Amino acid sequence: MRLEKKVAIITGGSSGLGRGMVSCMAKEGATVVIADLNKKQAEEVIRSEVESRGARGLALEVNVTEESKINELVKRVISEFGKIDILVNNVGISGKPGLPFTRNTEEDWDLVWDVNVKPIFYAAKAIAPHFQERKSGRIINLSSIAGYMPGRMKPPYSVSKMAVANFTQILAHEFAPYGVTVNAIAPGLIWTPLWERLADQLQKTWPDQYANMKPREIFEKRVSELVPLKREQTPEDIGWAAVFLASDEAKNITGQILFVDGGAIMR
Ligand SMILES: NC(=O)c1ccc[n+]([C@@H]2O[C@H](COP(=O)([O-])OP(=O)(O)OC[C@H]3O[C@@H](n4cnc5c(N)ncnc54)[C@H](O)[C@@H]3O)[C@@H](O)[C@H]2O)c1
Repeated sequence: MRLEKKVAIITGGSSGLGRGMVSCMAKEGATVVIADLNKKQAEEVIRSEVESRGARGLALEVNVTEESKINELVKRVISEFGKIDILVNNVGISGKPGLPFTRNTEEDWDLVWDVNVKPIFYAAKAIAPHFQERKSGRIINLSSIAGYMPGRMKPPYSVSKMAVANFTQILAHEFAPYGVTVNAIAPGLIWTPLWERLADQLQKTWPDQYANMKPREIFEKRVSELVPLKREQTPEDIGWAAVFLASDEAKNITGQILFVDGGAIMR
């Protein structure tokens, strides 16, 4: 019960990695708030992953691209649970493919930036007075191995995930005088709805390489090509990494990018 009495907000907690983090934090005793576009699914996850374990939870419909909604979220959670200890900025989209990069439009770049990067700024700004006053708090952002590789098929995504890592370190410096830590997790390859869409795009971008393959087969091929440990990562792998970064054991870790990628970044 490493997170007993802690209150966590997890954006995008209805699906994929977010759901994994919700589940692992609830197992460790945290009260978990999911902020997601998909309220129905958020409620289902709160029931099955949080309340079923005897932990408290709340599902809220929030579009993280709207600063006013993030401000409301922070206020609501403080008024409902008295405080916030952990903020996980997990929402992210992979955007449209662009190879060569001239296929991408300005709108593609704006959308990915609006969803993957700016909400982290909104949330950090909204929560800063609370964390600074309490002189404690944890922020965990979701970067990606894609930020550390030249992702030619998805330039806006690749660039956005490096931006997340960079902004994580800016925030780590800014919050350090208050004892607040800010870290990022950089996952490798995890089978989620995001990856299913990506498989479809890979097939359309390189039809010869992925001819007649199902999305899951494309994913497995990429795992065998990219991951030295030769196995996919799971939402729970990310969940346990987030639990660690949120726990007391990690109190002296800040400004770090924790790769949970089976060694893919070593390529
Ligand atoms: N799946 C992977 O292999 C992988 C690898 C590296 C990094 N990541 C990162 O992990 C994070 C989660 O990815 P995932 O694969 O679980 O994705 P996913 O598509 O399965 O889940 C994303 C969740 O975010 C929610 N969401 C989307 N836009 C939103 C918005 N504007 N406001 C509120 N909620 C919104 C969706 O409803 C969904 O519940 C992303 O930041 C992604 O870039 C994923």
